[in-house]
This record gives sequence, structure tokens and C-alpha cells, in this order.
Amino acid sequence: KHVLLFFGGKSTEHLVSCRSALFIARTLSKMPLKLSLVGITVNGDFLPYPFDGEHLDSENWVKEAEEYGKSRNVPSAPISSPAAFLSSLTKDGSKPDILFPVLHGINCEDGAIQGLFKMADIPFVGSGILASACGMDKIAAKTILQHYKIPVVPWFRLSRRVWQMNNEDACIDILEKLPFPLFVKPANGGSSVGAGKANNLSSLNQAIAAAAELDSEILIERQLRVRELECGVLGNFPNYLASPVGEIIVKKPNSFYDYQTKYFSEQATETCIPATITTLMTRQIHELALEVCNILQISGLARVDFFFDRDARKIYFNEINTMPGFTEISLYPQVFAAGGFDATELCGRLLYLALA
Ligand code: ADP
Ligand code: DAL
Ligand code: MG
Repeated sequence: KHVLLFFGGKSTEHLVSCRSALFIARTLSKMPLKLSLVGITVNGDFLPYPFDGEHLDSENWVKEAEEYGKSRNVPSAPISSPAAFLSSLTKDGSKPDILFPVLHGINCEDGAIQGLFKMADIPFVGSGILASACGMDKIAAKTILQHYKIPVVPWFRLSRRVWQMNNEDACIDILEKLPFPLFVKPANGGSSVGAGKANNLSSLNQAIAAAAELDSEILIERQLRVRELECGVLGNFPNYLASPVGEIIVKKPNSFYDYQTKYFSEQATETCIPATITTLMTRQIHELALEVCNILQISGLARVDFFFDRDARKIYFNEINTMPGFTEISLYPQVFAAGGFDATELCGRLLYLALA
């Protein structure tokens, strides 16, 4: 089989995607298949990456790919728009068997590229357009899941436009529904980019401004004192397998699992697999994770993230990631490794599920 792996992306999670791709490309390169890579630049252009991904350098890959082109006297780098790339994919003789979008965030995990793949009529790893879009948009996900009685943290939807028109009135509306302390995030975001705490009016406006730079819809939630419990899921509707539950413990008091903590300070967190929770709680999380995947009709993989509210002693669904982080320090490959699927087994199953 010929697998075409995509990495990068026009997304705030571009660098994270490169790191996830490095891990997956290393795994796939040990398997009996043909692997090619395509990078997507931060501007959204598609650029074939002429190496095997073993040493993919997240900061310099565009330069590397272009220099390779020059060294072979290719007049200009073969950069193409998504539409041109789509047509090159569908040309006879060069059509790959499976596409693997190792991409996170907007344009990548929200149904956009999945639409392109669907138009090209090539099987791909992961969820389709609707499940990807609903998984990416936290307001859409909460609205749907609440309808099915999945417990979610009390929340408020704020449109950027409403806040920009009159931020004082917007804040009054929020505070009528939810008391401080609050937590603010862009509806479509990931890796904690644009997410932050708001403990008073001035930090609320600051946090909204940060989220509003990234999205036109903003999610405001009650800020809870949480334990962060995450569950990997593998499978296609309606046959899913749940991994052991993992817990991320952020060691610094009064902080949260922010971008820096996630990817750049390994000592700041502790990962506990399986999480030290009761059998009953584990069962509850497994049931909820599978129910969420069934409701959203997830394909291939997802990581379903939960909060345990330390004060109310209650479990809430927080969010779902339809292309969870896949770096060597990410939780998704680790929880499945603990469940008996090493990286090769996991990636093999993902390819198989794409074709099923
Ligand atoms: P992202 O998609 O960016 O990962 P999350 O909803 O997972 O968005 O939020 C990122 C992090 O922010 C969480 O892992 C958690 O540490 C913190 N967080 C998010 N929502 C809340 C909340 N309501 N109360 C307390 N902390 C929160
Ligand atoms: N959005 C990142 C990659 C994650 O949640 O794993
Ligand atoms: Mg998260």
C-alpha cells in the first residue's frame, strides 16, 4: 500500500503536527508499505517533502524541501494550492491508497481537509467531515452532547462581534449566568492556544481578547479545580475500543495544562497510566468516552478528555480530539501502549480502519 502522510497545516498547532508526524513517520517507515510525505505550510500551500520523515525538522522543513528541489535543478519548488494538489492526487497512476492527515487544529482537524480527501475519493485515517467539525468546535460538541445528557461544565457562548460592540454588556450577560472564576477559550482551538483563566473583570476582558484573536466564537466556562483524565478510543462506528484512562497531573499550583506545559516542559507534568481512580470511575469514563464516539460517529481514533471536579466530585466531558497529539510524549500513543498496542500495532490498526 502507498500511504501519503500530511503534516504541518495552516493552524496554530502547526509545530505540534510536525512533532506528531515525526513519531508516526518513524513508525510507518518500519512497516511494509510505501510512505510519502506532504507538508502543508502555515500559509496553506502543499509542498511534497522529499525525505522519509525520520528526521523531520518542525522549524526548517520548508527550507529543506526547497533546497532539495534546487539541488536537483527543479526550477521552482513544487508548491501547490489545495485544489491543484487535489487534482494531482487523482491523476491515474499516482493515486495513493490511504491518506494520513497527521494534522491538528483549524483547517486540519475540522473537516476542511477531510472534505478535500472526500472529493479526491481516497480513503483516509480518522473522522469524516461532520465528526471532525463537531469534534473541533467545542460549542457544537457541547450542544450536541448535552442533548444526549452527557455531563459538561456549565458554559456560555459569546460571539466576538457581540463583545466588540459592547464589552461591558457582554460581560454583564456572562456574569449573570456564570460566576467567577471563569475559564475562556476559542470555540475552535487546541493545545491550549488562546485559553486562559479569568478571575476578575479585567482578566476576563483580557482572556476574551486573546481568544477572540483566534476565533469568532468564544467559549466561557466555570473554572473548576480539576483532575484531567483522558481516554483513547480506536475503531469505527459502532465498534470502538477504549484505552486505559490516563491522568495528566500539572505540578505547578494554580496553573493549568497550557501550551508550554504540554510540549516544552516535561518536568512540569506527570502522566499517570492507568490513572489512580476507582474502578467505578474508570468504568464511568469508559462508558462516557464510547458514548461520545457513538453520538458523534467518530472514525478511526479520538482522545476523549474529561475533568473530575475536585469540589463537586463529579465527572464532566471536556473535549474530544479527533486527531490527538501523537508526539513521543503524547498521551494517546502512551495509553494504547499501556493497553498492549505498541506504536506499530496502533498505526497498523489506524490504516486498516481507514480501509474498512
Ligand atoms: P484545548 O483544545 O486547547 O486543549 P481544553 O478545553 O482542553 O482546550 O483546555 C485546555 C486546558 O485548559 C485544559 O487541559 C485544562 O488544563 C484547562 N481548562 C480548560 N477548561 C477549564 C475549566 N473549565 N476549568 C479549569 N481548567 C480548564
Ligand atoms: N490538540 C492537541 C494536539 C491535543 O489535544 O492532543
Ligand atoms: Mg485539551
